[in-house]
Amino acid sequence: MPALVIVGAQWGDEGKGKVVDIYTPYADLVVRYAGGANAGHTLVVKGEKLILHLIPSGILHNGQCVIAQGTVLDPEVLLREIDQLEARGVDCKARLKVSDRAHVVLPQHKLIDGLREAAKGDDAIGTTKRGIGPTYEDKVGRRGIRMGDLRSRARLESKLAANLAAWKPEIEAHGGELPAIEPILEAYLAMGARLGDAICDTAQIVGDAVDKDLRILLEGAQGTMLDIDHGTYPFVTSSNAVAGGACAGAGMGPTAISHVVGIAKAYATRVGGGPFPTELNDATGQRLRDVGVEYGSTTGRPRRCGWMDAVALRQAVRVNGMTEIALTKLDVLRGLDELKICVAYELDGERLIAPPYDDLERVTAVYESWPGFSEDISGCRVRADLPETAQRYIARIEELVGCKIGIISVGPDREATADVSNPFAG
Ligand code: IMP
Repeated sequence: MPALVIVGAQWGDEGKGKVVDIYTPYADLVVRYAGGANAGHTLVVKGEKLILHLIPSGILHNGQCVIAQGTVLDPEVLLREIDQLEARGVDCKARLKVSDRAHVVLPQHKLIDGLREAAKGDDAIGTTKRGIGPTYEDKVGRRGIRMGDLRSRARLESKLAANLAAWKPEIEAHGGELPAIEPILEAYLAMGARLGDAICDTAQIVGDAVDKDLRILLEGAQGTMLDIDHGTYPFVTSSNAVAGGACAGAGMGPTAISHVVGIAKAYATRVGGGPFPTELNDATGQRLRDVGVEYGSTTGRPRRCGWMDAVALRQAVRVNGMTEIALTKLDVLRGLDELKICVAYELDGERLIAPPYDDLERVTAVYESWPGFSEDISGCRVRADLPETAQRYIARIEELVGCKIGIISVGPDREATADVSNPFAG
């Protein structure tokens, strides 16, 4: 049963897009299982850059793409992406299906996301303001509107009225204005009509693929440390980004998953608020940001940068059941005399090897220092070609986190990757 989950092993933005792009030609079906338009990956289509937030990058290759019921879907963003891709000759109609069970992000969700963040001031989570949290809130509150509802005027109208009534007090308490029902109703019905048959029961597609032993690639969004259950709560997103989320989010059992590849940057970044034990507020942090071009692809915000956190990564290896790590952006570390790895945290004189319950912002990172490398590694295609110091750095990370590092990215281009192999083999 060749099903592979690609999951972010840190705080998102680990470079999942590039690894997914390398792996999708091997897959028959690509499934996005969690999150929404808060994610973003940059594609190059016919020499032109394109940022997609919802549609899996697998759309550029042959094979079917599914946006499954664990996601929250903003149909406006979805249709814009379809238009952009089709204008560049990519046929989405035949190959993209979206779940009728996926919850719809509506104007009230985006509005309240922004109002809440503004009201929190310094305590803001730093959300992407894409309405993600409020939409998932409606889902678990059992008052959400699902993609399948866009097919029926009567159903959508009554659900919308109830949903708007539920948000009214909070929107007005923040000084906001409740959106009117009519324009939403008309716009969302029209978008539902445009999507037509693309809205369907995607769990059947996934189930059929499992039955036929097809190669399924499950594409995660965000990262383990942003997972609602395993992340740095409350500074997290509102979905299960971890590999386990792929089962519920796509509609398949855990027994169907054979490989879990965790994507980890060779250092660490985080965008938005929340604790970040290895953060560097100095020239080295700025250098990582500049060389690594660490700016959010969805919001453009500068990312916070820091050293590799092996404590957090070890936790990610465990909660995801990772079979392999793909290490990205190793080239960004070139030219640094020393490379630090956080091997433990210290809190009130105690040494911790797992993230604590609620005091992550108070821990001190305990570092090991390893020699850096100055060589240009962008041409390395096998690990043995890397400078010895880089190899030692990688080997030490493997040892600390308890998982082997397979594929290693040594530059932004697709080709600048070492140890690429068929991920479904073995
Ligand atoms: P939300 O998902 O928009 O509610 O944002 C919650 C937190 O997750 C914020 O700190 C965001 O910056 C972060 N976040 C959400 N999506 C991504 C992503 O794709 N990459 C990195 N951080 C993200």
